[in-house]
Amino acid sequence: MLNERSNIVSRTAVVPSNIALIKYWGKRDDQAQWPANDSLSMTLSTACTTTTATIADGVDELHVDGKVVVAGTDHKALNYLGKLRRELGFTAPLAIRSSNSFPADCGIASSASGLAALTTAAIAAWTGASSFSELAAADFGRERLAALARRGSGSACRSLHGGYVLWEAGNAPASQSVSVALDAGVFDLADVIVILSREKKAVPSTVAHRAAWTSPLFAPRLAGLPDRMARLKKALRDQDLTSLGDLIETEALEMHAVMMSATPASTYMLPRTSEFFAWLRTARRRGDFEAYFTLDAGPNPHVLCRPDDAARVAERIRRDFGADDLILDTTGTGPTLHAEPLSSGKLI
Ligand code: DP6
Repeated sequence: MLNERSNIVSRTAVVPSNIALIKYWGKRDDQAQWPANDSLSMTLSTACTTTTATIADGVDELHVDGKVVVAGTDHKALNYLGKLRRELGFTAPLAIRSSNSFPADCGIASSASGLAALTTAAIAAWTGASSFSELAAADFGRERLAALARRGSGSACRSLHGGYVLWEAGNAPASQSVSVALDAGVFDLADVIVILSREKKAVPSTVAHRAAWTSPLFAPRLAGLPDRMARLKKALRDQDLTSLGDLIETEALEMHAVMMSATPASTYMLPRTSEFFAWLRTARRRGDFEAYFTLDAGPNPHVLCRPDDAARVAERIRRDFGADDLILDTTGTGPTLHAEPLSSGKLI
């Protein structure tokens, strides 16, 4: 059993979301959270989850975006917290407050930042660590945190690092690894997130993952991914936006084709999403700007472009496409962790 020492300090993890360029879709093993394929994402900076954890009396208490999650309900974060505690042997109850800087559960990977932030803040509270180096000293280095966060939500493991992050499936559940493919600062991009709908998705991605294997397009997808991954890594190294853009658009459309051709089928795109793709491609062909789309399990496109072009791209999306609800994000440097005395009056 590890040490549960500090109950006078709260720990706050600020963890960015990430946008997958090569998607994690389908699992070889649900229980072990073993993905069907390697994935690669860009860590964001503005879209993030801030989670504060404090050792509490009584029972776990979880607030998400100002709303209490009632104990005993079937809630992804609450279930995961229980699992984490059992696995690590910590007993102290936690008071946890979590807030997202972006709308949750509509395809902007709130479970990625949310579950990674919960892992970091909870373990920091339990161990008394106030920084990532103190967490590492308590035997919770990034690799272990990523492996734990992955149990909560697969994509969460990629939010523990900044820059471009590679999650490799390995040959067995235990040989999975998460590493930095390219540091932030080497090829920074902007991500204009276009929020076409804030409605919560009808089918959680965890449920839709299971159907991937039933799609006739899934086996050919898996066969082609190693080559796409190699080409994406090269595009990142060469800072080649044009090649990167072509690859990520094909990748996103392929994943959605798998979703839509699975049994049961899931359709996350709205008619407005495909209108947006057509509009963006036309504007790009006309030479208005160089920007490319990708899409996670939701209707809200991410538009990647060079940081210097982001304001112009956003302005054209507002003016010509008529979408006003935008988040302007960029490649981020990864999560932060800090401690604050309870007397600061900020908490719980
Ligand atoms: C489309 O990580 O949300 O965003 O592991 O079941 O929690 P669970 O799934 P989740 O799946 C994310 C899928 C995706 C693509 C990606 O982020 O790679």
